[in-house]
Parts: sequence; structure tokens; C-alpha cells
Amino acid sequence: MIMQKIIPLLFVVSLFYLTTDAQVPIPNVPYGDGTDPEQVIDVYLPSLDFGRINKVIILIHGGAWGAGSKAEMAGWVPIFQTLFPDYCVTNMEYRLGTTASPGFPKQLEDIHLAISFLKSTFTTNVTFALFGGSAGAHLSMLYSYLWDSQTKNVKVVVDLVGPADLTDPAYTEDPIVSELFLALVGPCRYAECPDLYNATSPVTYVSADSAPTIGFYGNADPLVPISQVGLLKNKLDAYGVINNFTVYPGGHFDWAWEYTEDMILQMADFFNTHWN
Ligand SMILES: *[C@@H]1O[C@H](CO)[C@@H](O)[C@H](O)[C@H]1NC(C)=O
Ligand SMILES: *[C@@H]1O[C@H](CO)[C@@H](O)[C@H](O)[C@H]1NC(C)=O
Ligand SMILES: *[C@@H]1O[C@H](CO)[C@@H](O)[C@H](O)[C@H]1NC(C)=O
Repeated sequence: MIMQKIIPLLFVVSLFYLTTDAQVPIPNVPYGDGTDPEQVIDVYLPSLDFGRINKVIILIHGGAWGAGSKAEMAGWVPIFQTLFPDYCVTNMEYRLGTTASPGFPKQLEDIHLAISFLKSTFTTNVTFALFGGSAGAHLSMLYSYLWDSQTKNVKVVVDLVGPADLTDPAYTEDPIVSELFLALVGPCRYAECPDLYNATSPVTYVSADSAPTIGFYGNADPLVPISQVGLLKNKLDAYGVINNFTVYPGGHFDWAWEYTEDMILQMADFFNTHWN
């Protein structure tokens, strides 16, 4: 396949851009009110010609809502820059959650602030793709389905090993993994607060207005039970939302390179087909 040849080229092409200075990285731009060091985003402009930019990819890291940083997503930046040289690629930090100060809803507010900031930065009408990993994929879906169903700034969601239904018995009956949700929801377990787990589940808000979603999971993920894929896909199908899910052999994105390569090609196809 012709597309298979793109991957080795990615690195050559990104070196070209670096050496010609055509791409302009601007690290740690504040997107909130400028007082919170966690509310910053790296912005990679395709060029200094702002007027050309109308598509923006936002990378959203994982870390169980209470840990992690945008550094973990930095490796995706040159891949997207090479696949989509005219798009702006961004990589955001967000306020981490703790049991006392949970991620919901402040992390959705942060995505909203980042999108508002980016919209006001460009002179053209810009639309967005959210690409989240793990907890970042959960936040990408929750933001898109819950907060953006009418505004529709987000045209495509990439869900890389994202929890989608926190009321899944595979989670609620697993005392170890369900601990992870406390940094998202606060100090209340499913048995005491089922409504809260329903309210923080992306599947709850899927509607006919939800953005096209492409997802990638591992068939032996210790953090994301495989039942999550079916629960999410069934809901998207029921509402006629464009979706495409692939399950690879492996765990929580510790997959062989050939699967990551396949994932990149599928994402590129999905963006080209469904992000107009
Ligand atoms: C942006 O979109 C609005 C509403 O569709 C339209 O009126 C406006 O002309 C657009 N602006 C640009 C710069 O394309
Ligand atoms: C989950 O939340 C949604 C939205 O608030 C609500 O419509 C639905 O009835 C809830 N489902 C359950 C099982 O509580
Ligand atoms: C999902 O994506 C693959 C690879 O891009 C494609 O071959 C397949 O037709 C897609 N499936 C659906 C249901 O769109």
C-alpha cells in the first residue's frame, strides 16, 4: 500500500521542517487567566501565516486524571505535523485532579478554555480534533459529547485506550482499578455514588450530535477492560455516530510498533474522510 510508505518518510520530512524553520513551536502558552501554571499549551504553528490555519489538533495526556504531563504526548507532535503540514498541532497541560479537588468538572473547563483561547488566536474559523490517551481520551470524549454537542467545535475525537463507561461492572467490581477514578470524581466510590459515575461517563452523553470517533484499544489492558469498547461502540452505533474501533494484541498502549503504525494510518484516513 502506498500509505505504508509514509511512515519511514515521517522522520525525514520532519527533519526537513526543523532545518528550514517552517514550523514554529511556541511552548507553554497560558490559555487560562495566566495565573495557573498547569493551564498552558504548546502550540506548533505550521508557519507564521496565521490566516492559513483552520484545523487544530489538541493532544490531551493521560495519567488517571491526577498525574502525567504533556511531555508524554510530545512524540505525537512530529507525526501529526508530517501527516498534516497545514494544521496547527497543540499539546495541552490541564489541572490535575486530587480526591479533594477532583478533575471533574475542572478538566473539562480547561479543555473549554484551551479551545476558546485557540479560536480567538486565529483569524479564520478553526475546527478541532481532540486526541487523548487514556484519561485524556476519557476527557476528550466527555468534553466532546457533553460540552460540545451544540457548539460542535470538535469535529473528530481520537480515543486511545480511553475509559468510556465508569458504571461498567468490570470497573465497579474491581476495587483496585476503581480507585483510579477518585482523582476524577472525588471521594466517593460507585456503591455510594452511582449517579456521579454515570454523570462522568462519556457514553452517557452520546447523541446524534456527537463527533465522529475513532478508537484504539488493547485486548489485554489491565486498566481498560475490553467490555468498554463494546459499550461505547454500541451507544455510538445506536445514535448513528460515525465510529471505527480497532482492538490490537497488547495492553495499555504498550503495543508492537506495527500496530501503532496501523493506528497512525487509520487516524490519517479518518481525519481525511470525516474532518471537513
Ligand atoms: C466564520 O464563520 C462564520 C459563520 O459561519 C462566517 O459568518 C464568517 O464569515 C467566517 N469567517 C471566516 C474568516 O471565514
Ligand atoms: C445517567 O445520567 C443521564 C444524564 O443525566 C440520565 O439521563 C440517565 O438516566 C442516568 N442513568 C442512570 C442509570 O442513572
Ligand atoms: C474503519 O477503518 C478502516 C481502516 O481505515 C477501514 O478499512 C474500514 O472500512 C473502516 N470501517 C468503518 C465501519 O468505517
